Amino acid sequence: MKIHIETERLIIRDLEKYDAQGIFDLDSDPEVHEFLGNNPIKTIDEAHNVIDLIRKQYTEYGIGRWAVIDKKTEDFIGWTGLKYEQRVRKDFSYYDLGYRLRKKYWGKGIATETAIESLTYGFNTLNLKEICAAADIKHLASNKVLKKVGLNFIETFDFEEEPHNWYKITKPEWVALHKTIKTI
Ligand SMILES: CC(C)(COP(=O)(O)OP(=O)(O)OC[C@H]1O[C@@H](n2cnc3c(N)ncnc32)[C@H](O)[C@@H]1OP(=O)(O)O)[C@@H](O)C(=O)NCCC(=O)NCCS
Repeated sequence: MKIHIETERLIIRDLEKYDAQGIFDLDSDPEVHEFLGNNPIKTIDEAHNVIDLIRKQYTEYGIGRWAVIDKKTEDFIGWTGLKYEQRVRKDFSYYDLGYRLRKKYWGKGIATETAIESLTYGFNTLNLKEICAAADIKHLASNKVLKKVGLNFIETFDFEEEPHNWYKITKPEWVALHKTIKTI
């Protein structure tokens, strides 16, 4: 089990096979999927598939979404992090910032905290040139998180027939910003 980041309250580590129940609790919740195509999973087998797919990305691209664990209780909160995304934009691939948390953990600043950690990892450890993100234009919380951690709105585009906001931050922009963000 590989731990990538530790904060005061969170452990951010590779997703493992034994996270299947956590992924099931996360991805079977219709509210979690409200802005993700409204197609929650229905079986634990599907949760295993999600984990297999993400673990394959670790091997193929050296990065993929990571599990977020409550340090005190060891509870599975959800996932966060970067993904080499090849499906969302028709014309290009990119490194995507994302997060998905079980509902009981919403509203505690966890998405914001893990997004900042993911950006720091992407720029400082992976030395990426830029990191992008997309959010359904109706998804107020996610759009807020992306702006709060320093991503810049670029344009609106259609994904799965829904308008999405497209965001980007470059490494020089992050370097200029990150000291301020760290103090939020
Ligand atoms: C989106 C999501 C990750 C946010 O996680 P979170 O930990 O609750 O987010 P944070 O607490 O860090 O910050 C959320 C911000 O959005 C705001 N917010 C939340 N719901 C909101 C709403 N309905 N309208 C406006 N603002 C809202 C919060 O007030 C907060 O801003 P603030 O810190 O300035 O007060 C969480 O709701 C989730 O997992 N949703 C399901 C999966 C998903 O949609 N992922 C993103 C796909 S693009």
